Amino acid sequence: MTFLEEVQRRRTFAIISHPDAGKTTLTEKLLLYGGAIHLAGSVKSRKTAKHAVSDWMEIEKQRGISVTSSVLQFDYDCCRVNILDTPGHQDFSEDTYRTLMAADSAVMLIDVAKGVEAQTKKLFAVSKERGIPIFTFVNKIDHFGRSPFDLMEEIENVLGIRTCPMNWPIGINGEYKGVYDREHETIELFAKDETHGQEKLASEKGALTDPRMKELLGDDVYQALLDDIELLDVAGDPFDFDKVRAGELTPMFFGSAMTNFGVKPFLEKFLELAPSPAPRQAVEEMVQPTSEDFSALVFKIQANMDPNHHDRIVFMRICSGKFEKGMSVLHRQSNKTIRLSQPQQFLATERTIVEDAYPGDIIGVFDAGTMGVGDTLCAQKHKVTFGDFPVFPPEFFARVSPKDTMKRKQFQKGMTQLAQEGAVQIFEQPGALDSFVVGAVGMLQFEVLEYRLKNEYGVDLLNNTLPYSVARWIDGEVDIASLKGVDNAMIVKDNRDRTVVLISNEWQMGWVQERNPDVTFLTTPKLH
Ligand code: G4P
Repeated sequence: MTFLEEVQRRRTFAIISHPDAGKTTLTEKLLLYGGAIHLAGSVKSRKTAKHAVSDWMEIEKQRGISVTSSVLQFDYDCCRVNILDTPGHQDFSEDTYRTLMAADSAVMLIDVAKGVEAQTKKLFAVSKERGIPIFTFVNKIDHFGRSPFDLMEEIENVLGIRTCPMNWPIGINGEYKGVYDREHETIELFAKDETHGQEKLASEKGALTDPRMKELLGDDVYQALLDDIELLDVAGDPFDFDKVRAGELTPMFFGSAMTNFGVKPFLEKFLELAPSPAPRQAVEEMVQPTSEDFSALVFKIQANMDPNHHDRIVFMRICSGKFEKGMSVLHRQSNKTIRLSQPQQFLATERTIVEDAYPGDIIGVFDAGTMGVGDTLCAQKHKVTFGDFPVFPPEFFARVSPKDTMKRKQFQKGMTQLAQEGAVQIFEQPGALDSFVVGAVGMLQFEVLEYRLKNEYGVDLLNNTLPYSVARWIDGEVDIASLKGVDNAMIVKDNRDRTVVLISNEWQMGWVQERNPDVTFLTTPKLH
């Protein structure tokens, strides 16, 4: 296969959803259909959503990298599929957001009974911001749920994206028999699930006009399907690939990950429509995936998997060029040459050493502490730098300091390293010695911080929650003393010495903005 063919056959995506919508189950079923596992049930045990934080930590330790494995890879037809995985815990962390920086598309998973939920909204917003195509899979249709038309309306109203169902459930809500493929005008009826979803589901296909299909469905169900099709054709948005690519229209699918109903039709159509690796903007130029010169973006760091060795695995997404084991590349931020000697790839159940990899693939390498999240690696002879990695607006804040002031040094070291890894965002309040203000996008991050500082650096933390939920970066040079209406706010500096205002809520922020009309308050720091 040529380099170009290797690039074009890659499909790298992330599944975005609210906890319990069925992400773990769907991931597993995609692996089942991709032949990466033979009986469903093996990935499920990785699920950690219902465990407390400490259990989660124990699981991480016992299983090493596999719990937070970064990618699941398999081949389907001609495609090489990379599913970017995010830890399945209930709470939310920046890791979940960052994964989207490495994806070329997203699959938004929605529970048919619950519709669009809180975390779906947040993750949708980040995906939309990135401008990647978003596909929708309505899950759990083996259960009674909301009507498909109702869900289309909700997605359009709440998320502001138009929908275009690619297929449509046939039958009675809660007892659907199959799906209708709108493009090919075919019906696919699924057999009853007899294996609790462990094996692929048998199905029978036929044209909409096939009398056998009509007979199998019965007159009423058949007529209801015809009515739905007509309504969709008249009232729905037509399929428009350009709009999908621009993130303005989401192709919609229906199914049940648990019973395997509709999983294969979804996978096949998704792989047909989903984009291969996209070009990526660097400071110097637009980097084409088909460029032969290597470049990669660090999007995640997993440190101290084994606290005794302080090991650190850096995950990067290859953006251009072919990766070969042992190759030397330039680490742009430190200007050091790094040999990628022990590259790891994380498959469904184990990690293996990779010999080569292509744009769209994710590899993990050991690193002693040189690289940070958002860094670039590139070919010596062709230097590129992927701009600043976005900072996600934190919504929870706390002031942390060491319980034992003798542990100051370890505290500083631990906090700096964990911030570099991107586990939390740290801010300094001028004049406040030996303490940091910590910002997070989910509460779990504080618990993880506390646990890790104790276990990895031997520091017990004093953790005081702060009453803020909004952070705003001040654009440009502004005399802080001249700011009005900030008595209840806290003014801090981020790790790049940019001034940030922490304030209790959006309403207060609006009030501050009104009183300082000449100051620009940014929700995230400016990228340069
Ligand atoms: P998550 O990773 O998004 O958090 O969700 P996960 O796949 O773990 O699924 C959450 C629950 O929803 C699980 O039930 C799972 O079996 C169920 N589920 C997933 N897909 C479907 C589906 O298509 N139909 C139905 N009816 N249920 C589905 P659980 O009871 O919490 O766990 P378990 O006892 O089944 O393991």
